[in-house]
Amino acid sequence: MKILLTGATGLLGNAYAQAALRRGHTLTALSHSQPCTLPGIAENLRLDAADPETLTEPILQLWPDVIVNCAALSNPQTVDAEPEQARKININLPRHLAQLSTHLGARFIHISTDMVFDGLSESSYRSTDMPAPTNLYGQTKLMAEREVLAHNKEDPVVLRIPILMGNSPSGSRSVHEKILAAIRNQEPLKLFTDEFRQPCSAGNVAEVMLELSERRDLHGLFHWAGSEVLSRFEMGQRILKHLGLPTESITASQIADNPTHKHRPRKLTFNLNPIVSKLKTKPIDFQEQLEEITFIEPLRA
Ligand SMILES: NC(=O)c1ccc[n+]([C@@H]2O[C@H](COP(=O)([O-])OP(=O)(O)OC[C@H]3O[C@@H](n4cnc5c(N)ncnc54)[C@H](OP(=O)(O)O)[C@@H]3O)[C@@H](O)[C@H]2O)c1
Repeated sequence: MKILLTGATGLLGNAYAQAALRRGHTLTALSHSQPCTLPGIAENLRLDAADPETLTEPILQLWPDVIVNCAALSNPQTVDAEPEQARKININLPRHLAQLSTHLGARFIHISTDMVFDGLSESSYRSTDMPAPTNLYGQTKLMAEREVLAHNKEDPVVLRIPILMGNSPSGSRSVHEKILAAIRNQEPLKLFTDEFRQPCSAGNVAEVMLELSERRDLHGLFHWAGSEVLSRFEMGQRILKHLGLPTESITASQIADNPTHKHRPRKLTFNLNPIVSKLKTKPIDFQEQLEEITFIEPLRA
């Protein structure tokens, strides 16, 4: 299949590109600040998501079977600092891609987030539950979901995913990479014992996205995550133990002790029905996610 992928240099986009190439698909990679360097890419195109109209011509020439959108301003702090840019990349780009994919008769896979929920529910969120984002990032992602489903009624997939483990091309995007960067920079590392997530690896999500690329019988809004729920503090401790590093660099903290974080969603967990029973890929536990991570940079003693 001919696949067009945005955000190919990001944590998830790169994992998806690797999975699609392994499977022998023809991949056109769109990236922003630098090209995707994976061997086997059919074509690298530069994309400024802030000006999505420039994409129309090359996409019409390519006429892909599937368009996968992993481009985003994916860091909530960056979205707060650059709201106009976030609106363009997180909302206008997916709307434009949804319109183009409808015109092409292409499948459109768009990635969203658990941050569309407020985290106040004790039970796992179903894809039919009412979203209520607590930050601008979550709001932009929710608006994008609605745009995508409004503009591609034929063959859309919106996949909400949780916090991601894995190895990013920049070495700075995933959970363990952020923890190691904080330790390296001697920054205080406080992680909440009362903030719960259901992490997943970028590699596992990429396998799900690949199945969804190839399965045109599944449409709509789906949830995917790992098989375990952990607090942020537990995640940090287990990462450091796995890497053979001292766990004392992480301090246990609580959301209530940190007024600036009072709006953080406390518990974001997903009910994975109905998709989990329809795919070959299965959710993986935290140990399996740990086994995927690489640890290349030596840390200070
Ligand atoms: N990471 C997580 O924990 C997580 C959790 C839930 C949902 N998600 C969602 O998953 C998707 C992928 O996230 P990710 O973690 O892979 O993000 P990421 O590592 O930050 O990558 C974002 C991608 O978007 C591209 N991009 C940024 N600005 C651009 C612009 N102006 N024009 C074109 N491309 C631009 C980046 O290109 P450059 O690097 O070249 O700038 C990069 O390839 C996003 O929709 C995100 O909201 C992520």
